[in-house]
Amino acid sequence: MRVDHYMKHFLLLFAICCWCLPIRMFAQSARLSVDTSVKVSDVSPTLYGLMTEEINYSYDGGLYAEMVRNRTFHHTWAGFESWTVVAHGNAAMTVGQDDSGPSRALSHSAKVTITQASPGNEAGLANDGYWGMAVRPSTTYAGSFYAKAEGVGLGRVRLVAADTGATLAEASVDVKDGDWQRYAYRLKTGPQVRDGKSNYLEITFSHAGTISLQLVSLFPPTYKDRPNGNRPDLMTTLAAMHPHFLRFPGGNYLEGDTIRERFNWRETIGPLVDRPTHRSPWGYQSTDGMGLLEFLGWCEDLKMEPLLAVYAGYSLGGEHVVGKELEPYIQDALDEIEYLTGDVNTKWGTQRAKDGHPAPFALRYVEIGNEDQFDKAKTYDERFAAFAGAIRAKCPQCKLIATMPVNQGNPDLIDDHYYKTPDEFFDLVHHYDSMDRKGPKIFVGEWATRTGSPTPDFGAALGDAAWMTSLERNSDLIVMASYAPLLTNVNPGGMQWSTDLIGYDALRVYGSPSYWAQVLFSNHLGDKTVKSGAEGVNSRFFWSATVSSADKLLHLKLVNASDAAQPLVLDLGGVKAGSATLYRLHAATRWATNAIDRPDAIVPEKSEVKISPKDWKHDLPGNTIEVIDIPLQ
Ligand code: AHR
Repeated sequence: MRVDHYMKHFLLLFAICCWCLPIRMFAQSARLSVDTSVKVSDVSPTLYGLMTEEINYSYDGGLYAEMVRNRTFHHTWAGFESWTVVAHGNAAMTVGQDDSGPSRALSHSAKVTITQASPGNEAGLANDGYWGMAVRPSTTYAGSFYAKAEGVGLGRVRLVAADTGATLAEASVDVKDGDWQRYAYRLKTGPQVRDGKSNYLEITFSHAGTISLQLVSLFPPTYKDRPNGNRPDLMTTLAAMHPHFLRFPGGNYLEGDTIRERFNWRETIGPLVDRPTHRSPWGYQSTDGMGLLEFLGWCEDLKMEPLLAVYAGYSLGGEHVVGKELEPYIQDALDEIEYLTGDVNTKWGTQRAKDGHPAPFALRYVEIGNEDQFDKAKTYDERFAAFAGAIRAKCPQCKLIATMPVNQGNPDLIDDHYYKTPDEFFDLVHHYDSMDRKGPKIFVGEWATRTGSPTPDFGAALGDAAWMTSLERNSDLIVMASYAPLLTNVNPGGMQWSTDLIGYDALRVYGSPSYWAQVLFSNHLGDKTVKSGAEGVNSRFFWSATVSSADKLLHLKLVNASDAAQPLVLDLGGVKAGSATLYRLHAATRWATNAIDRPDAIVPEKSEVKISPKDWKHDLPGNTIEVIDIPLQ
């Protein structure tokens, strides 16, 4: 009995000690000193950008606004994926493959044979999109299809609510007998329609006959009303990051599993009907609706500069090309560069003008290949040198990026990739501090802290923020950096690579805590780092201090990746006493996160704080990222 009593007290005391220990450990104030009058190094104006490829249904079923899935009737063992047959009432029909199509690129189609149909008893096909179709009130959807028909006559196209069968919008299309033709239609929803994604598209006919269909398309309004354009909600989410460049088209998507499945840019330009589509190494067919010119339109819309990755003769399965055999691939790259930069008197500049963009694009960065350290045959030195020589002659202003260190070809930049845990990034934050500044510059073309799925949790955001302080401190060397992967469709089966910055379904989009950390870091970045130093801080405390000459601000970034608060005393030389703007991103635990149904659980909070240049006492809570904009004197 007495032993029990003592034991209880002992346990209580032990629990209190355990609880207090972290607080006691960090309770002492630490000092952070910043001297804004001492500029240490340049910050690259292009530091933060985007890396992108067709993975996780990033474009198809993601950014690229097409609503119809498998619009080109790609045939698998399971038939035409995403398409089902429709037979209302006593209508009867069959569906099979037709070995003809509207173009050389799309030389097959789906043949629908309607054996019995009448008004009210219609037959045809339905498509349920990429895990549904987002339908909104008072909205016009632009559709089209190619058809070759006999006898079916007037067709009916409808957007249908899956749960009620209600028609949300409909249109008639008069299908003529005869050879392949393109038909366009518009579907307008009324004000009574509610936002939803459990919807499908139906195309039906009320007369017996045959119709072969190809390239069945439906687009909602797009960002800046671009035809064949992007989803406005996703574009707005990306715009908020203020990215300076876009690295495209990959990533593994550039290489393909085989040479045949590489990103062959020539097959991604011009009318959609001339794009054959191709298999992405991430396991699904790419429509190539997001083709070379669409990537560039995306750059224009978000004011990003293109960072073009060219295929360099190596594919993921190990196929590689060397010697004379490389020539056609080098020519591909040169023609691709001409498509971007050539004036309208050049062959590929003329083609670009024909495709709708007479003005050339400015191109400063070309990456040769992707992750060529995986080429077991070790041919990258030779391949890089061959591409580099030819590209330099064609595009003298282009800075060339190698995907690994090479002994030939003199790369201007090396692309380093990091996929890490938070702890690994905490250990890596000084990796670049003492690196030789005389060699090539660094492009951190892919990086991410990988905890959390489908999107990063707060622990990952802390790892990212710590890493970004090191990118900023070393931005004289690291001229560009881009998180990867950028996007994921969160539906089951949508994701091939976990921990992606932004999640979405057909209707909604959300930013992960890591996304918000990037928004904060990218939007509050100066042009010089300044002298700074800390004493007595915990081992998971990180910071960055840059000043913006144009805005006359110190952007102070503080990251406390420990669970315990970090009391700080700050000396901020050269700033004004008074008001500063503080943005705080905080979560109770490292496992806290945002999700498609909880999009705003963790978002930055903005407030005004009073600061003093000397001995300013400021407590940084545990698990917190702060950006403080402080006016300079
Ligand atoms: O970002 C996912 C993949 O990671 C990229 O496609 C590839 O470059 C890297 O291995």
